[in-house]
Amino acid sequence: MLSKTMQAALNEQVKIEGQSSQVYLAMASWAEIQPGIDNITAFFYRHSDEEREHMLKIVHFINERGGFAAIPSFEKPQMTFPSIIHAFKSLLDHEIMVSESINKLVDIALAEKDYATHNFLQWYVAEQIEEEALARTINDKLELIGEDKSGLYLLDRDILNLVARNSNTMGPA
Ligand code: FEO
Repeated sequence: MLSKTMQAALNEQVKIEGQSSQVYLAMASWAEIQPGIDNITAFFYRHSDEEREHMLKIVHFINERGGFAAIPSFEKPQMTFPSIIHAFKSLLDHEIMVSESINKLVDIALAEKDYATHNFLQWYVAEQIEEEALARTINDKLELIGEDKSGLYLLDRDILNLVARNSNTMGPA
């Protein structure tokens, strides 16, 4: 059975994961109307879907442990970006915030001696390592590319391979 404190903290994470899904959905929609970045667009849509899955996993966990997952409303995300570089910088900052939030949940689980939740959260800890690493790789590449349009073309061509390679090297998702 979840403590009230743990339940409230997990519900807060439901909101954060759902908000993440909205944030990346907005990036996807913006990217979709930019010319020539179809795979980057697909990356954002896929990332948005994954965040929704992260949210649902927590919803089910709360409910299965005798709590109640309260579905929250979400804030309106940023809808347009000055450039692809800005969008990916924002994605990295967002993932760093999510990692901090997961770490706080782990702290609470330990303080509550809630080892089941602690165990459940390890998947998120690993996932955040993976997502931050991928976001950093893409940001590094974009920094090298700068304003070079052919570089952006190559990144768009390679981004889905980059995602596949990242999840292979970082272990199970
Ligand atoms: Fe589920 Fe990218 O945080």
